[in-house]
Amino acid sequence: MAKMAAYVVESGEDAFRKIFKFYKRRNPPPDLSDVIDFSRSAPGDQVIPAILDPGGVSDVEAARVGLQPVRDWRAFGLQSYPGFMFISNPFLLGSKPFWVRQCLKTYPQKPNVCNLDMHMSPSDTQDIWDKSVHGLSCPHSRKTQPKTLLDSLRWVTLGYHYNWNTKTYSANHYTPFPADLHSLSFQITSACGFPGFNAEAGILNYYRSDSSLGIHVDESELDHSRPLLSFSFGKSAIFLLGGTRRQDPPTAMYMHSGDVMVMSGQSRLLYHAVPRIVAAPQGHPALEMEGCSSASTLHDCSMVEPLSETDWAVCSRYTQSARVNVTVRQVLGPGQSFSETPTSHQKTDADQTEGPHDQLADGESGTRRSSCDSDIVET
Ligand code: OGA
Ligand code: MN
Repeated sequence: MAKMAAYVVESGEDAFRKIFKFYKRRNPPPDLSDVIDFSRSAPGDQVIPAILDPGGVSDVEAARVGLQPVRDWRAFGLQSYPGFMFISNPFLLGSKPFWVRQCLKTYPQKPNVCNLDMHMSPSDTQDIWDKSVHGLSCPHSRKTQPKTLLDSLRWVTLGYHYNWNTKTYSANHYTPFPADLHSLSFQITSACGFPGFNAEAGILNYYRSDSSLGIHVDESELDHSRPLLSFSFGKSAIFLLGGTRRQDPPTAMYMHSGDVMVMSGQSRLLYHAVPRIVAAPQGHPALEMEGCSSASTLHDCSMVEPLSETDWAVCSRYTQSARVNVTVRQVLGPGQSFSETPTSHQKTDADQTEGPHDQLADGESGTRRSSCDSDIVET
């Protein structure tokens, strides 16, 4: 941490912002030697083993959603962040392409909501995948083709649809949460000691190589005693985990494809951000190494279906140059409902307009961006 400590000269003011800018910088590129890499690290001073509950999830239940047996998971915590858990790619070989396909082909479909709905008609955003696939699966036409809808996809919301302007969820904007992602989230949280997790809202973020996600806290959920889950697919990212105050300098770590993060307890409401997308490291199997044929090693009763050649080719190509992040949230506590909390100030979804893009163009705000193009900023 010596280099970083020197960089934060006056650590009284917003240390998070300084470190965010350090990692976001293009020229010269930042020194990444202080970034924790859980895929390589063994427990040490900062990185500690996480306690899992292998009894909470059977091997069959894990395999059904494409996960390795819990006893084989490499799960870590961080010394000064109680409640934070990092599971280094617990997916079975061959199951990641299925989840990537869900993120690119299935979840952007109606009735789910995406950024393209803000300025396009429902019929135009009906079949993002089908309308984009031709351009993507045909390698020669790639450079000559105009941007596809899939290229322009930035966010999708599931379940209780997050309203970017009011920063709230509401009872009157809910569509069924995808059963497969609910199941995956349920199994992971059970293994982490949170039985009964009810996935009610999801936000998918689609990052290009030059995207970043501003400094924020996820506090819109009504029950903060439930953990927040985050999945990463495709290119790697640098994730910054800070404290409860902007002055607290954050810890930098890599998120690689397949990694899962759980923010619970005292870590549930910490500042965090993604300043940079980086190449997947050497030696990390890219999606193409998990060819569609390897899905045959999956159980018969699995929710994880093998991909068609075309689907696999599109997913493989997409994840070589982009990153998909899925965050899953339980919004309400057991027995809780929106009616218990006054929502009179809340705007309706019809009011959700395209917010000012310049507002947080440098991606360094303390809060989520109020824009229909989400928090992700491209430079
Ligand atoms: C979020 C978030 C982090 C990531 O969507 O709230 O913090 O890893 N995402 O992209
Ligand atoms: Mn977040």
